[in-house]
Amino acid sequence: MACARTDIVAVVQSRQFHPEEIIYLSRSPCKGLSQIRSDAYADTAEQLPTPRGALNPSFVGLTSPDPEAGLRIARSVAGNAYVPESGFRVGCIVETDGGVCVPGVNVENKDWNRVLCAERNAVGTTLSYALGAIKTVYLASPDDTAITPCGACRQVLSELAVGSTLWMDRGEQPAQPSDPLTLLPGSFTGRSIRKNPR
Ligand code: THU
Repeated sequence: MACARTDIVAVVQSRQFHPEEIIYLSRSPCKGLSQIRSDAYADTAEQLPTPRGALNPSFVGLTSPDPEAGLRIARSVAGNAYVPESGFRVGCIVETDGGVCVPGVNVENKDWNRVLCAERNAVGTTLSYALGAIKTVYLASPDDTAITPCGACRQVLSELAVGSTLWMDRGEQPAQPSDPLTLLPGSFTGRSIRKNPR
């Protein structure tokens, strides 16, 4: 969604789809997905169709933007948000150590428990493409000049972008800088979780 692509016709993952995932996909704005059945290719990988090409997420072609430039892009990316439920658009740009800028927008569906936030989408895409450490996060909403990450995004940023600087768009006011540990002091680390539970 962040790249304004609605021409996706197939989604493949390494395990069976859960029923709610099928519902989620069938309600997406990618009309080509609506006919896809969960079990169509379940049995053998040989039956999978050959992909016609890489998705090519066309990352934002900007290296090391200053805060204002980063936020300008985040604001424009927010225009691609899919928000039929709330009408509240959020755009996020994650900049990696290597200077790659990855966009994310919020993507909604009727099950509000499964709304995808802009920050987590951008962080997830950065991980999916193995783009390395996150240096800077830019967050903007044309619908709210007090935009700030929700609790779940704060947790994810504290785990996956811990050393980063977060810039929040404040409209006419100067951008507000922060960082994940300031936003979520004492964040849950899971340090004592048993790795090999019985
Ligand atoms: N939202 C984000 O994308 N990021 C945040 O940190 C706050 C909330 C989205 C989720 C939902 O689509 C809409 O804003 C209203 O909550």
